[in-house]
Amino acid sequence: MAQFFDNQKNTLERRWFEIKEKIFISPMDRVLDMGCAEGWISVDCAQHAEVTHGFDLDRQKIAKAKKFEDPHPLRRYRELAFSVHDIRTYNFPKTHKNQYDIILCLGVLHKLTEEEQKRILVKIFNEPARLICLRAQDKQFRIMHMVTRLAPIRAFSVLRYRSRYAGQGDYYICHRVKFPI
Ligand SMILES: C[S@@+](CC[C@H](N)C(=O)[O-])C[C@H]1O[C@@H](n2cnc3c(N)ncnc32)[C@H](O)[C@@H]1O
Repeated sequence: MAQFFDNQKNTLERRWFEIKEKIFISPMDRVLDMGCAEGWISVDCAQHAEVTHGFDLDRQKIAKAKKFEDPHPLRRYRELAFSVHDIRTYNFPKTHKNQYDIILCLGVLHKLTEEEQKRILVKIFNEPARLICLRAQDKQFRIMHMVTRLAPIRAFSVLRYRSRYAGQGDYYICHRVKFPI
């Protein structure tokens, strides 16, 4: 694991830890990492959470991430699984027991059209998750503000943090304040 982190660019690690220091992942949590790339953020979440699922559009990245799924005698997490999905067509689980408590969408939206971004944000905020973390650039923040005017999202307190790392996008941490909506 240490070697895996060593191979990452320093800022990749640090910008996640910047977010992580502001959230609490409980041992009962189910975490979804949308656009998880090679899965290193998911792996880190899985050290704390009950269940962690990551998905990405890129099959090669998911093939690398899947190496972390293998049972290992030193593994401390209970469930970690990766799959290939497109965030634009991804369907959240329908049954209550499969729904996620924490949804991460970090650095994924900016390549999509504005319409797609709006649709995805509305879908994410309609989920019963208690915490939603987004890392995005200024344009997505404008879309996000538009989306936060919609009813279900008013159930969240939305905090925007300036990233310490230029060019990495700022991030939002959205805590549910009313539950259920
Ligand atoms: C900049 S990387 C961010 C990776 C990771 N979330 C992080 O914060 O370090 C963006 C990732 O989003 C994935 N991605 C882009 N478009 C996607 C889509 N439509 N559906 C799912 N994943 C997508 C890319 O393959 C890439 O792995």
